[in-house]
Amino acid sequence: MMGLRIQVFFLSVWFQFLIIAAVTNTEDAVILKSLKDIFKDGLPPNWQGSDPCGDQWDGIECSRTRVTTITLSSMGLSGSLSGDITGLSELQTLDLSYNEDLKGSLPSSIGNLNKLTNLILVGCSLSGPIPDSIGSLQQLVFLSLNSNSFSGGIPASIGSLTKLYWLDLADNQLDGTIPVSDEDSPGLDMLVHTKHFHLGKNKLSGRIPEKLFNSHMVLIHVLFDSNQLTGPLPSSLGLVKTLEVVRFDGNLLSGTVPSNLNNLTNLNELFLSNNRLTGPMPNLTNLTTLSYLDMSNNTFDQSTIPSWFSTLQSLTTLTMESTELQGEVPATVFSLSHLQAVNLKRNRLDGTLDIGASHSSQLQSIYLQKNSISAFTDRPGANKDITIILADNPICQESGDPKEYCTASERGSSYTTPSKSCQPTPCSSGHISSPNCMCAYPYTGILNFRAPSFSGVGNETYYQNLEKTILVSFQSVKLPVDSVSLSNPRKNQSQYLEISLAVFPLGQDSFNRTGISRIGFVLSNQTYKPPKEFGPFFFIGDGYRHFTGETRKSEKTSIGVIIGAAVGGCVLLLLLVLAGVYAYRQKRRAEKANDQNPFAHWDPNKSSGSIPQLKGARCFSFEELNKYTNHFSDTNEVGSGGYGKVYRATLPSGQLIAIKRAQHGSMQGAVEFKTEIELLSRVHHKNLVTLLGFCYERGEQMLIYEYIPNGSLRDSLSGTSFCFC
Ligand SMILES: *[C@@H]1O[C@H](CO)[C@@H](O)[C@H](O)[C@H]1NC(C)=O
Ligand SMILES: *[C@@H]1O[C@H](CO)[C@@H](O)[C@H](O)[C@H]1NC(C)=O
Ligand SMILES: *[C@@H]1O[C@H](CO)[C@@H](O)[C@H](O)[C@H]1NC(C)=O
Ligand SMILES: *[C@@H]1O[C@H](CO)[C@@H](O)[C@H](O)[C@H]1NC(C)=O
Ligand SMILES: *[C@@H]1O[C@H](CO)[C@@H](O)[C@H](O)[C@H]1NC(C)=O
Ligand SMILES: *[C@@H]1O[C@H](CO)[C@@H](O)[C@H](O)[C@H]1NC(C)=O
Ligand SMILES: *[C@@H]1O[C@H](CO)[C@@H](O)[C@H](O)[C@H]1NC(C)=O
Ligand SMILES: *[C@@H]1O[C@H](CO)[C@@H](O)[C@H](O)[C@H]1NC(C)=O
Repeated sequence: MMGLRIQVFFLSVWFQFLIIAAVTNTEDAVILKSLKDIFKDGLPPNWQGSDPCGDQWDGIECSRTRVTTITLSSMGLSGSLSGDITGLSELQTLDLSYNEDLKGSLPSSIGNLNKLTNLILVGCSLSGPIPDSIGSLQQLVFLSLNSNSFSGGIPASIGSLTKLYWLDLADNQLDGTIPVSDEDSPGLDMLVHTKHFHLGKNKLSGRIPEKLFNSHMVLIHVLFDSNQLTGPLPSSLGLVKTLEVVRFDGNLLSGTVPSNLNNLTNLNELFLSNNRLTGPMPNLTNLTTLSYLDMSNNTFDQSTIPSWFSTLQSLTTLTMESTELQGEVPATVFSLSHLQAVNLKRNRLDGTLDIGASHSSQLQSIYLQKNSISAFTDRPGANKDITIILADNPICQESGDPKEYCTASERGSSYTTPSKSCQPTPCSSGHISSPNCMCAYPYTGILNFRAPSFSGVGNETYYQNLEKTILVSFQSVKLPVDSVSLSNPRKNQSQYLEISLAVFPLGQDSFNRTGISRIGFVLSNQTYKPPKEFGPFFFIGDGYRHFTGETRKSEKTSIGVIIGAAVGGCVLLLLLVLAGVYAYRQKRRAEKANDQNPFAHWDPNKSSGSIPQLKGARCFSFEELNKYTNHFSDTNEVGSGGYGKVYRATLPSGQLIAIKRAQHGSMQGAVEFKTEIELLSRVHHKNLVTLLGFCYERGEQMLIYEYIPNGSLRDSLSGTSFCFC
């Protein structure tokens, strides 16, 4: 008796659910629910129920009834990206960054998301080709697929993304040549609104097409470092006057450097090192804003130190290792007022080194190993803060007391955000002391600066600025951040500056899901803009493991948990009893129906006995529906989603019908299917379309409804898709 009442209760809830539609568009809801099965681990625990918008699922934002934003960075998601997600037809922002267990490929149905503006999948483990269909995302402004394992070529179709502002495909396994347009195909040269080409650290090969750059472009960052590009640097690069950062280092480029690079008067950082460039050293005298110049490891013609070095008034870093320089180093080079570091190792420099009395006050290092320098004019007072290294020069082969400049080693850097006038207290395991001396679980990761304009990694002012601006950017979007801590800045082999970041929560010891996904988004979406001297950056976040309110098995059991468990246990026991009663009743019913397949002896046109009661609905054969839908042809398809597809068809009587065909994987058991049909055939409500029949043959489950030609069809149809989940 009680079992029956409970069942009645659930049924009536279910009916209300059908009729009073939830806030979320049901197709969207169904898709999000299907994502739950795909992203096995790491899904927010509050992804419960069937109304993501109404129930404010973590990481989901809606505009009225439609899902427009998914931001789930650093959640520890696993599994693979499925085509289902591409059914969210109003989606504008998708950010699944920093989920390193997220595998698989980018489905080619991604091209269906034609409202998408921001596609951000940084630092996952995605592989396979980037589908051509990406070129259909006509609204796309921001495309970041960096730090994955994508392979294959760069799709030429990216060239048709006319609104694209940010293109980051760096740090993947992409190969082939850089696509440019021709009569048949678009290409990257068409991206005249794009400011960022970040394509470094791939396996791109072939010549860089002369056509790639043109004077209509507004690029500021062109990063092609660490690829396998060959041939000369295109002279068209000199036409893009807006350029600020250019990296072509670590390729196989040959030929002479085009002289019109000297036209790029906004250039701040230029990296041409580690190529096979030949010919004369380019004359860059007009680049008065250049701060960082690295042309090391090329085979330029032998030359003396060019006089134009001393005219680059903004220069902080001059790196010309192994570039066939000879003669004396003029003291004027060291007087540039911002100069911090000079690296002229492995050249043929000779004579006397005299850095002069009026050298830059910011000068930190002068590396001249492996040259032919025979004398040094030491000015102990003036030079004391500078690391000068002359090892492997004749001057250091003299016998006698080894001089400091012969034994010194290259400077590393160290920095850690200091505590703010408070006494750090020891924290229990896992907790870390914040700069404000609070013990908490910080969100951590690594900031990677791709082309910093400075070398003075020993100068704390840079880090203090960085800290301050990061904190301000979190606080200005009302994130509950107490403080940020930077540590362990280091330059790696590719001259990227890496800095460890820890973000501490405000007023509690951990962040909740929303907090983490929003912090991750501020960094993945480049909402945070670092001080200009840091140049382009990307962030790789760690998965967060201490979400507020989510107890992990390994953690100590608290009183609260014990009480919770006790209460939970009672509820569970009650549920088990109810489930037992329910199962028993179901079994009795099934026995009565005398078959495991309730359709076996079931003539839906007869309404008798314990057999399903259908009002006005009939059974269609597969053949029949196959004919009406022209073999379920694409032209008859009117919609699709996680549950399967919806087709439009006409009955011989002329009546329009809609057929909802469940796809394999979203089928229900026979009993459930039968129950659903029974229920639907009895529901008549102005907001619901009428069920005309069903088909249960050849392993198919289809529901046939009357067809309502405009938008309400979708809503009404989706109104029943819950039965499928
Ligand atoms: C750019 O450089 C080229 C070659 O150095 C020169 O002929 C040309 O006049 C320059 N263009 C502009 C706009 O400065
Ligand atoms: C470099 O170019 C500038 C102006 O374009 C010129 O005055 C200077 O002589 C050139 N320097 C060299 C070494 O060719
Ligand atoms: C450098 O600038 C000067 C004047 O600003 C100009 O006359 C000269 O052509 C430029 N040199 C190059 C190589 O573009
Ligand atoms: C130049 O090449 C040498 C040897 O391969 C390497 O150790 C050095 O780091 C390179 N220098 C720069 C600035 O890339
Ligand atoms: C550190 O950098 C700042 C900003 O560039 C500069 O003003 C300051 O002089 C530098 N300090 C030292 C000791 O080099
Ligand atoms: C340098 O750092 C960048 C960013 O972290 C990374 O992608 C790259 O592999 C590193 N390069 C080397 C040679 O370690
Ligand atoms: C999660 O943190 C945000 C602040 O980032 C707060 O507004 C929100 O209420 C918190 N959510 C829950 C469920 O505690
Ligand atoms: C994310 O980036 C887009 C495009 O770069 C920008 O328009 C938008 O304001 C950013 N969103 C947030 C919340 O910062």
